[in-house]
Amino acid sequence: MAADLLHWYDRHARALPWRVPPDGGRADPYRVWLSEVMLQQTTVAAVKDYFHRFTARWPTVQDLAAAEDGDVMAEWAGLGYYARARNLLKCARAVAARGAFPDTRAGLQELPGIGPYTSAAIAAIAFDRTETVVDGNVERVMARMFDEHTPLPAAKPVLTDYAARLTPDQRPGDYAQAVMDLGATICTPRNPACGICPWRGPCAARANGTAADLPRKTPK
Ligand code: ADE
Repeated sequence: MAADLLHWYDRHARALPWRVPPDGGRADPYRVWLSEVMLQQTTVAAVKDYFHRFTARWPTVQDLAAAEDGDVMAEWAGLGYYARARNLLKCARAVAARGAFPDTRAGLQELPGIGPYTSAAIAAIAFDRTETVVDGNVERVMARMFDEHTPLPAAKPVLTDYAARLTPDQRPGDYAQAVMDLGATICTPRNPACGICPWRGPCAARANGTAADLPRKTPK
């Protein structure tokens, strides 16, 4: 199943700036971390320009660690959630003090402002660790693949479990980003494009005609 998605990703991956390391080599943990922090509660379209400005001004985590607080807050202006910017600086300084980003999920989670989602994303995308990355896109894709009708948020543990079962040992970072791209471009909240989905074969919700109704949500 993962192989079908990776094959699709090889042809359809969105060209996003943090996926293109400057030297054409592996994903840079600094750029992956910065993009993931910016993408929390902000759309990909809005993040792109900020990401370009930050990485032009502070190309490495050491550069960012040495920045003036006021300069970073000023570049952040417009992204909102200013606690994220303060944590960003704290984290950059902690990484600069220890020399480099930790390369495991557990190590990453000890850094300021890095929780379960961000640690899994950096471990998978930058270090190719087999970690399961679960955001709203992934929850929606899993609810549909397994036709899971338990409403969110109660369904979170079971959806995380489904996601973990599908995560491959080969190319886990590409796989994590492939599920996000699938959720953003095909397995969309409304009018999912099931006809062109690389997972249309195994998807239980497609077979049962329930895709557009999932995931269910407990009314607030
Ligand atoms: N949303 C959060 N992280 C992302 C990533 N690495 N690629 C695409 N969308 C994302």
